[in-house]
Amino acid sequence: MPNHKHFLVANWKMAMTTHQALDFMKMLSVQEITDSRTQVIIAPSFVTLPALHQWITQHSTPIALCAQNSAAMQSGAYTGEVSAVMLKETGCDYVIIGHSERRILFGEREPDLSTKVELAFQAGLTPIFCFGESRDIYESGKTNDFLRKQLAPYSAKLPFILAYEPIWSIGTGFIPTYDDLARTVGFIRSLFPDTALLYGGSVNGSNIDSLLQHTTMNGFLVGGASLKPDVFYSLYQAMNQR
Ligand code: PGA
Repeated sequence: MPNHKHFLVANWKMAMTTHQALDFMKMLSVQEITDSRTQVIIAPSFVTLPALHQWITQHSTPIALCAQNSAAMQSGAYTGEVSAVMLKETGCDYVIIGHSERRILFGEREPDLSTKVELAFQAGLTPIFCFGESRDIYESGKTNDFLRKQLAPYSAKLPFILAYEPIWSIGTGFIPTYDDLARTVGFIRSLFPDTALLYGGSVNGSNIDSLLQHTTMNGFLVGGASLKPDVFYSLYQAMNQR
């Protein structure tokens, strides 16, 4: 894993075309983005990866590229799938695995997720492994048990990045209370003491300062608030000003 302690990851989901992505890059204050404290990572759609890779190379910016998913198979007759090796060749250094939208809308589950993590490592990608509980589980106080099960297939020694994303917080504007978040983060860190841990779920320009103040995360996985260059840049600034 690259030697950065903090990460700001833009998960663009299926929100931007390549044209829009290139406009975003033009408007982002890229010359202000350095790799000193926070590694900025952008996860566009598969088809936008080559254009962004070219843009990043031409502008010599330390922004890294991430895929939003990868296949659970190495290669072969799997129409519509994209392998970890292909992603690496296209300029990715990271891949998001196990996002709740993939789990819920596309039925992804173990053991496929572990296979994806393994194939990502083999291809030279760092997996950003997402996990998190539903509102029901959160409200019934069973979050830790649930997270323990989701993380059970993974060794604490794996050099991946963990992204804790409560499902009920994604795209809703709701985040856990800071006390709850601190407790959950403490629990995850007791299982994975040396692993970089991100938080994701409705991170925005209004709550990032409090999140930074009240928690000990290694960064954030950001959806909605990563789609506007000025807002995304303000998140980067907030992280660097700590
Ligand atoms: P959000 O999405 O920031 O829009 O809540 C986060 C994510 O899905 O990773």
